[in-house]
Amino acid sequence: MFDWLEYDKKTKKGFEEQEKQLVSFLEGYIEKNARIRELPIFEKPNEEAIERIMNTEIPAKGRDPLTVGEELVNDVFEHSMLSQHPRFYSFVCSAVSPYSLAGSILADVYNINAGGWDLAPAAAALEERLVKWMGECAGYSGDNVGGIFVSGGSMANMSAMVAARDSRLTHDEFPKGRVYFSDQTHSSVAKGLRIIGFGDDQIVKIPTDDEFKIRTDLLEEAICRDINEGKKPVAVVGNLGTTNAGCIDPLDKLGEIAKKYDLWFHVDGAYGGSILLSPIYRNLAKGIEMSDSFSWDTHKWLMQTYSCSTLIVKDKTYLLNSFTEHPEYLADVNTSDHLSGWDLGPEMSRPNRAIKLWYTLQATGTDLLAEMIEYSFYNANLVKKELEKRPNWKIISKPCCGTLNFRYEPAGLSPEKIDSLTDNISKKIIESGFAYIVTTVLKGRKTLRMCIINANTTEDDILKTTALLDEIAIKEAEKMLAEK
Ligand SMILES: Cc1ncc(COP(=O)(O)O)c(C=O)c1O
Repeated sequence: MFDWLEYDKKTKKGFEEQEKQLVSFLEGYIEKNARIRELPIFEKPNEEAIERIMNTEIPAKGRDPLTVGEELVNDVFEHSMLSQHPRFYSFVCSAVSPYSLAGSILADVYNINAGGWDLAPAAAALEERLVKWMGECAGYSGDNVGGIFVSGGSMANMSAMVAARDSRLTHDEFPKGRVYFSDQTHSSVAKGLRIIGFGDDQIVKIPTDDEFKIRTDLLEEAICRDINEGKKPVAVVGNLGTTNAGCIDPLDKLGEIAKKYDLWFHVDGAYGGSILLSPIYRNLAKGIEMSDSFSWDTHKWLMQTYSCSTLIVKDKTYLLNSFTEHPEYLADVNTSDHLSGWDLGPEMSRPNRAIKLWYTLQATGTDLLAEMIEYSFYNANLVKKELEKRPNWKIISKPCCGTLNFRYEPAGLSPEKIDSLTDNISKKIIESGFAYIVTTVLKGRKTLRMCIINANTTEDDILKTTALLDEIAIKEAEKMLAEK
């Protein structure tokens, strides 16, 4: 017989031994986080540590746990990129709220299984309450509003596509199904569609206009062409904050088109969903209330730890139709009138991801979070202003949702050379350790992209970053012009 608690007691291993170390790890993290602004964002990967990990045996007899803990902090966590740094302007990363961290720790410590209502009813109630509130933020109303917390925007988008598919297509009709979205839509939508069986010919990417928003005229043309050819349009996906440029599609027009052709209308608000909290900017999401579903990742702009994303639907019966199974081994824990997470989404066992968001919202309040969102818009506009003061900078995408794209375009360099210059500027600023800015491609040309949604990014950070960008760009351009 093996009794772990008895073993713990006898050997003094386990929790008793780890308690102090865990507290000291937390203290170390809090202290480091307080001086994050002074730390380099990026150091070269620690090849020695990686080599050590790759060559470490999985032992038959356990090692000293305190040493293992130390190794994890030193070799793993201390050598990862500081994506919470206030001058980490890449991807869609933010600072973490202390309340989210606390909620996340609590969820891990208690390790409740949020799969079914009966397993942790109050935790499930809290998830249900938040989903309803998120729906209300988008203008959804009524008893049927529902949804599910999932790991990220990719899972939320994919789950929405499952519901869309099942709402519009029979098994036999499936090959005729078509889904439409712009060429700026996050790759997770196409990936999700492929995972659930759609072929490339069933995924229709619609070109965007000069502001990187979907061309609704071309969308309608594509839908009509497909109908004439005997295809079955299933869904249209609109963007509330594109990854590349923070752009927002004309959601109201998409809503009208979806209604006209009886399409499922999904909004990918993984990034931009958080603007629904801002009384100033929520009007940019006008039309989202017409959607059937939307994704909202609070681990992006709302300061949550990974993973925290929500799929919200206007009518949860669609999720139930797609995701409910009735296995015999769950019958005894499916007694409540309330719905269980395992009937609303793809996962069975899962952590309760709503706890940390609940903690954050209750402790911070939406007013302060709205201000934080608005400050991101302000900072992105400040970058634009600062760059426009200096020669040769061209704004490629106007600031929206805290993101903008730009290029340094001195006379005498071809567009291809400017692509290389853009790469060089990104490499140099990353090497400086002061700021982290990577490139993307818009309309076939490389651009520098800044996504400024970190709650700790200040005006001073922006002024210093733009000055450094200019200094690097002038030097790198001179080098390239001299090579000609
Ligand atoms: C607009 C958008 N949708 C979906 C995703 C995917 O989210 P996740 O990485 O959480 O799966 C992202 C990620 O950046 C995104 O920006």
